Amino acid sequence: MIPSVLPTYNRAPLRFERGEGTWLIAEDGTRYLDLGAGIAVNALGHAHPALVEALTEQAGKLWHLSNLYEIPQQQALADALVEQTFADTVFFTNSGTEACELAVKMARKYWSDKGSPERVNIVTFSGAFHGRSSAGIAAAGSEKMTKGFGPLLPGFVHLPFGVHGSVLSNAIDDTVAAILVEPIQGEGGIRPLPDPCLKGLRDLCDDTGTLLIFDEVQCGMGRTGKLFAHEWAGIAPDIMMVAKGIGGGFPLGAVLATENAAAGMTAGTHGSTYGGNPLACAVGARVLEIVGDPAFLDAVDRKAGGLRQKLEGLVANHPDIFELVRGTGLMLGLKCRVPNGDVVQACYAQNLLTVPAADNIVRLLPPLTITDEEIAEAVARLDAAAAALAATTAAES
Ligand SMILES: Cc1ncc(COP(=O)(O)O)c(C=O)c1O
Repeated sequence: MIPSVLPTYNRAPLRFERGEGTWLIAEDGTRYLDLGAGIAVNALGHAHPALVEALTEQAGKLWHLSNLYEIPQQQALADALVEQTFADTVFFTNSGTEACELAVKMARKYWSDKGSPERVNIVTFSGAFHGRSSAGIAAAGSEKMTKGFGPLLPGFVHLPFGVHGSVLSNAIDDTVAAILVEPIQGEGGIRPLPDPCLKGLRDLCDDTGTLLIFDEVQCGMGRTGKLFAHEWAGIAPDIMMVAKGIGGGFPLGAVLATENAAAGMTAGTHGSTYGGNPLACAVGARVLEIVGDPAFLDAVDRKAGGLRQKLEGLVANHPDIFELVRGTGLMLGLKCRVPNGDVVQACYAQNLLTVPAADNIVRLLPPLTITDEEIAEAVARLDAAAAALAATTAAES
């Protein structure tokens, strides 16, 4: 019999009752150290007092309005994002995949309005993840994401990850509307695109008029120690997808764009019932106030350096379990020599939560508020998990 919750997830048998910062407390009182943060969502940890205050204060006044009316909380958050980023304008969604839908629509409408309606193709890269909507799965293109869901939304061109030079530039012909890329692939296995590659993509787009779309749903909102990951490369996209961390756990996403890229999106061309509602935007504004503070971002960068160093030591101590560490800031991946699922399980046994990803990676995406003491504790638990795995492997051989 089919479960009452559609069984699209393989869930771990863990039931949490509440959270406190970097900790999740199970129904039986066991405390788990959370290095997953709801897959990079709980940027400020669990039950952050400032977010609880923002949410409850707004909840007592007004939950939902409609985009038929002005929403001051939405306006305030859009103004703050425009002030702190490359963008001139923002549309709010409820999730990352809805941001993908709009990013694709915006790029195609741009070229349609410019008199080049044949420029519809969106170039993406293998290993990409842009969500589970029709545009999202077509953008990713992998069999795993698309099998059985055809006919797929047409107009996506898939290139190998890391492609460059003439292979890349030849793919950008006059049917291409935009390049869509994650500066750091998340689900694909914490694969950062090096700064020179991001700069190269920007140059290629400038030379051909192609729009550059960054998907910063997972790597954005302070996770790398800059408000957005592309800032490390000193370049900016034309359109950017944001979600996850921007709501700190409340469903919120956004598409940020330059005035030029957004030129086609006039009244009636797009909409959302819930997108940008007062509750989500009240929380989002508080998240941005905290995460956008340069001192907060500096602290993320410093703590990330410490974690990275400790993880390098962990890999050196357990060469049979781990191969390497990669990633940027507090978006780190441990490439495993044993199945990554086994490592995630061994971490559960140490009351530590991590997240698997492609390419046999275990992802570490802690709340950005994690303390130095919690980092030391997390690495000690990873060490214990690796030792337990090594002991099991030795016993079996
Ligand atoms: C890079 C990236 N883009 C898009 C999405 C889709 O976001 P959502 O699950 O909120 O629709 C995700 C989710 O993991 C993501 O990591």
